[in-house]
Amino acid sequence: MGHAVTPWLHILAVAVWVGPQFFLFIAAVPAIRTIDDMRVRANVMRTITTRFGWMAWAALAVIVLTGISNIFQEADDFDHLLDFD
Ligand code: HEM
Repeated sequence: MGHAVTPWLHILAVAVWVGPQFFLFIAAVPAIRTIDDMRVRANVMRTITTRFGWMAWAALAVIVLTGISNIFQEADDFDHLLDFD
């Protein structure tokens, strides 16, 4: 079962890492640019990027760890490529 879990976690973490970047650039940044007060604008931007930043770093850690695990699983599969019994 472990074989199915890490590629799944890998792709889930990629979605968590990449998805919010679409939200930020398509929706959040244009919305924040409508704030006239530069101090408020900077504060809102900082709060959003800091909070998403934590999630992105956590997701990246999961991507790297599950990616490495995927490599070992692929290597296992290659080892057994010619086992016909
Ligand atoms: C240290 C970094 C990474 C390593 C070692 C790694 C390794 C791997 C391996 C070995 C697979 C094949 C899994 C399988 O078929 O069972 C895989 C699949 C995949 N990886 Fe990564 N990966 C890394 C980072 C990333 C990043 C940064 C992204 C995207 C932003 C990414 C996106 C994907 C996707 C979409 C798949 C599925 C593709 C498929 O199954 O054909 N990976 N990764």
